[in-house]
Order: sequence, then structure tokens, then C-alpha cells
Amino acid sequence: MKWRLHGIFQPFTGFMQNLTHMSMMSKWRKDAKVNGYNDWYQGKWDYNRREKLYEAVISQEQMGTLPIDYFEFGVCGGYSFKWWLAHNSHPDSRFYGFDTFEGLPEDFGPFAKGTMAAALESLNVTDTRASFYKGLFQETLNPFLEQYKSTRRKLIHMDADIFSATLFSLSQLYKYLNDGDIIMFDEFGVPMHEFRAFKIFTESFYIKYEVIAAANNYLFLAVKIKK
Ligand SMILES: C[S@@+](CC[C@H](N)C(=O)[O-])C[C@H]1O[C@@H](n2cnc3c(N)ncnc32)[C@H](O)[C@@H]1O
Repeated sequence: MKWRLHGIFQPFTGFMQNLTHMSMMSKWRKDAKVNGYNDWYQGKWDYNRREKLYEAVISQEQMGTLPIDYFEFGVCGGYSFKWWLAHNSHPDSRFYGFDTFEGLPEDFGPFAKGTMAAALESLNVTDTRASFYKGLFQETLNPFLEQYKSTRRKLIHMDADIFSATLFSLSQLYKYLNDGDIIMFDEFGVPMHEFRAFKIFTESFYIKYEVIAAANNYLFLAVKIKK
């Protein structure tokens, strides 16, 4: 471009993008009907309310007793992964955990690259239904999917926090999504990251979905795929 517009506007783009996405999220929230648990509005954020979302998904969708394929993107110390292992008892269920186990690959707000590192060995998961894939999703997910064959219902847990990781994983999983599969988000309420990835993914791939649960003022969200 002749006028080197970035020289003038670059310092303000972060602020403007954030504001734009906050406004988009506000409109999305107003328009989206939640067919299930929703704790809006809470005066205070409480991270522990993510378990309210999990419990709602279990009671509304029988995810505690059915054979499922549980995918988690962002395992870190394994808190949510172990929660789901403990709350789905079916012997035919499978649990797949993806993480660098060396922390975030990029800065995320106040969290610097490398934060949230937790060694895979420290997880101490002995349940034989679980398996882990160490490395960037961008390197581990496609080799996994090439050999993945299953008719079980999928419960996909997006907990990588960052935009790139969320958009990459969703777009690679696209071909494997079936009617009734569930996608949960752990940081949906962060406008420039999980929300932005979700919006781009659903709009670009023409994904139809139903919102089935929201907790902690939409920070945690669960949607069901409609096909
Ligand atoms: C918020 S933590 C996960 C928290 C975890 N689910 C829990 O319950 O404690 C986010 C994780 O995502 C991982 N992550 C983010 N982007 C990634 C990527 N592109 N590839 C692999 N791991 C990634 C980070 O290594 C980090 O461990």
C-alpha cells in the first residue's frame, strides 16, 4: 500500500481488535439460546464453576455412562482430564490428551510462552483407557487422526487457551465431527482467543450447533454439533 497506513494505525490495532471482538461476543451471547444449564449473570467469576459445566453435560447428555471418545487439547497438569476419566466409567471409552507438556507455545495475555509446563510423567495416569500425545497439536494431531477410526460419540475439550491452537484443532477435527458430538471450551469468554477461533471456525465451515451449557458468565461453554 502506498500510504504506509500501518505507520499510523499499528499502535492502536490491538486495542481496536479487542474492542471489536468484545462487541461481537456480546452480540453472540445475546443471540445464542442456551438449551440447558446457564448461570448468567454472576457478579463474580469463579474458575471452579467449570465443574458445573461438566456436570451439566453429564446429566443432560449421559456423558458419564455412554462409551465416548474424549479429546482434550491442553492437558497441562491433568486436572480436567482426570476429572473426566473419573466421571465416565464405561470400559469402552477412550481418552486422548494432547499437549506440548512444555507449556504454552506463544504468549497468552499475561502468560509468557512456556508457562503452564507440566511434565507428562508427573500426571501419573494409570487408567489404560487414556493415552497422551506430546508435542504441538500442529505436529501430533494429524498423524493421530490418520489412524483414528471410531463410531463412539466425541466429547472434545478445548483448553489450550490460545487462538492458533484452538482454530487449528477445530479445523482439523472438522471432517470427523458427527451429529451429537460435543465441544466444550474452557476460555470461551476471552474475545481474541477461543471465542475468535470458534467464530471463524463455525462461520467458515458452516457448522450448525446448539449451545447446551454455559457457566461462569460464558467463560465455559458447551455446544452440540448438528448435522
Ligand atoms: C490452560 S492449560 C490446560 C489446563 C488443563 N486442562 C487443566 O485442567 O489443568 C493450556 C495448555 O495448552 C497447551 N497448549 C497450548 N497450545 C498448544 C499447542 N499448539 N500444542 C500443544 N499444546 C498446547 C499448553 O502447553 C498448556 O499446557
